[in-house]
Amino acid sequence: MALEAKPSDKFTFGLWTVGWQARDPFGDATRAALDPVRTVNELASRGAYGVTFHDDDLIPFGSSDADRAQHIAKFKKALADTGMKVPMATTNLFTHPVFKDGALTSNDRDIRRYALTKVMRNIELAVDLGAEIYVCWGGREGAESDAAKDAYVALERYREGFNILSQFVLDNGYNIKFAIEPKPNEPRGDIFLPTIGHAIAFIDSLDHPELVGVNPEVGHEQMAGLNFVHGIAQALFHKKLFHIDLNGQHGPKYDQDLVFGHGDLKSAFFLVDLLERYKYDGPKHFDYKPARTEDDKGVWASASANMRTYLALKERAIAFRNDPRVIAAMKESRIDQLAVPTLAAGESWKDLANPSFDVDTAGERGMGYEALDQLAIEHLMGVKA
Ligand code: GCO
Ligand code: MN
Ligand code: MN
Repeated sequence: MALEAKPSDKFTFGLWTVGWQARDPFGDATRAALDPVRTVNELASRGAYGVTFHDDDLIPFGSSDADRAQHIAKFKKALADTGMKVPMATTNLFTHPVFKDGALTSNDRDIRRYALTKVMRNIELAVDLGAEIYVCWGGREGAESDAAKDAYVALERYREGFNILSQFVLDNGYNIKFAIEPKPNEPRGDIFLPTIGHAIAFIDSLDHPELVGVNPEVGHEQMAGLNFVHGIAQALFHKKLFHIDLNGQHGPKYDQDLVFGHGDLKSAFFLVDLLERYKYDGPKHFDYKPARTEDDKGVWASASANMRTYLALKERAIAFRNDPRVIAAMKESRIDQLAVPTLAAGESWKDLANPSFDVDTAGERGMGYEALDQLAIEHLMGVKA
């Protein structure tokens, strides 16, 4: 079994993931801060392709220009030494109290203007580091009360923000695209653009929709009780899957950010199957949090676990698709028929009526999905045929 990750697998991690010190609303940090240089080295030694960052992960908020330059220089050296890439970057628009009511949709106009300058400054650094995707997670863009925010007007400001940022990218000739990351809630009571579907519809309203796609996260759709595999299929269908955040979640509850596959494993299996069959070739980005119980050793074990799980699921998905029993069961379930257009070439709605179609017989015929699903489960469990 080839479960060793290689850079060609394109696995990436945010500096904030392994670097999470495990501070939560109820307790203090359980781990020391991680130097980004060490993170780059540790991940490279485990076969990762690259790292991603929020401006403030790399350059502590409020750093002087001289300190900023030093942080960047050290990071660049680590990248050069290891060959690690930075395919994506993002902005922290949620930690500082100034963003307590949002950034691009804050009711306060000065804060909206400040937030855009923070994004633009980090886009310049992202481009300098070779990133081609810029993620926008609007963690604080939302409200706890509908009295506090006119949600319609907030969408106008959100759209204006993306239009300004798109113009900034175009005027500078940057080769970078935006990826909106939906999330239904947490830290705000309700967050704008809560799901993949909301984000895709919103993108259509922008001045430059071609510059904007989505960065869906496993746990975020599952927090909303949605089927992540279906959400990703729709993002692919609209050619909007610019990036993906892989992790684990156990249904609708707080954002767990578990290791990939350590939540709904069956959904993870069908997700990998989908990504591989549709040849998603962007970074496979793990946005997870090593559990608060873990020490430094546990952090790196969890980083490897994400990659091993993906590779194991990929093997299982290929074996599932190639199993003659599965091929026969799929035929029995008429899976192949869904790919056949409902109208034949040259036909129109006028040709649909079919007097010889026997509705009752068609209604009696089973689909055979239970047998097919059990084959998937047995492949997932490694049951030998
Ligand atoms: C979360 C989000 C974040 C974003 C990150 C990049 O729920 O906390 O997933 O981790 O992905 O801020 O913008
Ligand atoms: Mn999350
Ligand atoms: Mn995320």
